[in-house]
Amino acid sequence: MTGEEIRELEKEFVLYPWMFQKAVNPVVIERAKGNYFYDHTGKQYLDFSSQFVFSNFGHADERMAEAISAQLRKLENAASPFATEPKAKLAKLLAEITPGDIKKAYFSTSGAEANEGAIKLARMATGRQKIISRWGGYHGSTFGAMAVSNDYRNWACEPSIPGVVHCLGPYCYRCPFGATYPSCDLLCAKHVEDVIRFEGRENRVAAFMSEPIVGANGIIVPPDGYWETVREICDKYGVMLIIDEVMTGFGRTGKWFAIEHWNVVPDVITMAKGITGGYVPLGATCMREWVAKQFEEKQWVHGHTYSGHTLAMAAGVAAIEIYKQDKLIERSAELGHYLLDKARELGEKHPSVGDVRGVGLFVGLELVKNRKTKEPIHDPWMEGPRPPTAKMKVLAAALQEGVYCLPGQTSVIMLAPPLTIEKSEIDFAMGVFDRALEIADAEVEK
Ligand SMILES: Cc1ncc(COP(=O)(O)O)c(C=O)c1O
Repeated sequence: MTGEEIRELEKEFVLYPWMFQKAVNPVVIERAKGNYFYDHTGKQYLDFSSQFVFSNFGHADERMAEAISAQLRKLENAASPFATEPKAKLAKLLAEITPGDIKKAYFSTSGAEANEGAIKLARMATGRQKIISRWGGYHGSTFGAMAVSNDYRNWACEPSIPGVVHCLGPYCYRCPFGATYPSCDLLCAKHVEDVIRFEGRENRVAAFMSEPIVGANGIIVPPDGYWETVREICDKYGVMLIIDEVMTGFGRTGKWFAIEHWNVVPDVITMAKGITGGYVPLGATCMREWVAKQFEEKQWVHGHTYSGHTLAMAAGVAAIEIYKQDKLIERSAELGHYLLDKARELGEKHPSVGDVRGVGLFVGLELVKNRKTKEPIHDPWMEGPRPPTAKMKVLAAALQEGVYCLPGQTSVIMLAPPLTIEKSEIDFAMGVFDRALEIADAEVEK
């Protein structure tokens, strides 16, 4: 088939996620290798957001192809009540790389499902209903996951599940409490305690749930002390702490899991994306021993046909071996400093860049109309058809020059290349953004 034929067939027969279907006009991808993918004309693109932040060790890795095809020849899948070697191995590996006494894993097939599992786990383990999560978080598009998320996308499915309460999160660049770190005394963390108390504390609140670093809604890094304080508050009220590492897990921030930057052990960690590097869909809800113990005598009333799918398990084992073999976690930490420095140089040069922040290979450039007022270059909390925003124009210009970056929701450009990225490739991408950002600079208020 020609590229045109593929595109036209998809436009006719595929309903695209999150899109006004009239606006669908996809690049047709034919193949990929390492940090690059290629369209049907042979044009090369540097993948600067690991697709949707899952291709953590690049595309078409031979070791993954080997592991997956070997498993396929032996046993493609066994129903979830059976034990298999890759499932046993992956569960043990996850217990080894997750912090503290996180031990048991429940397997599913996506980030949203991993979070649905966490919500049910918290309710069943504590016998309470309420889940507190944060405005501006993203946890997936199924009903429960959407309910604990918050951006314009969850308004489309409201009313969703009852019992979810949102609170404010840290955002030092635009502190919702009008304070400045560190003299703020971590008002954002203390606010969590207020909300837990207002919502019925240990009698009614099952869990506090959040990304460790907000991803899709703007790469927002919390100040030091935030997570330590929130952990203490959760302990004080017996509230479970659920950390969603779907985007930040598997080396993205220079640690296996981002929460490790603050030496905090959550009760539950959810993960997907990087767990297989995107080679096979897989999600996991991993829990501490005390949580798992609740289900010795109590039924775990939850399941999926493909829980522990054998191919996904084999892919997970092979992926963790690659992260270890290629020292990718360490690499992310090291190259992350390089990427952040380069992004800061762009920030100094371009008036449209209001803030540059990030950890590891997870860096955001927040675009503003005015550095003084910090007015975002477009309103991220806007429903309905949007005119092409300055950010989208910048990303389109970068794509034209062969650098792909995912179009997230807010006015933040997310830089999240594979952990296998080279310094020279970072330099190339930064050169492309240096030119593309002039489009946004033109919209800055004089
Ligand atoms: C932090 C976070 N949680 C959950 C999800 C949902 O994952 P999935 O799209 O695999 O359901 C995402 C997806 O981007 C995410 O970034």
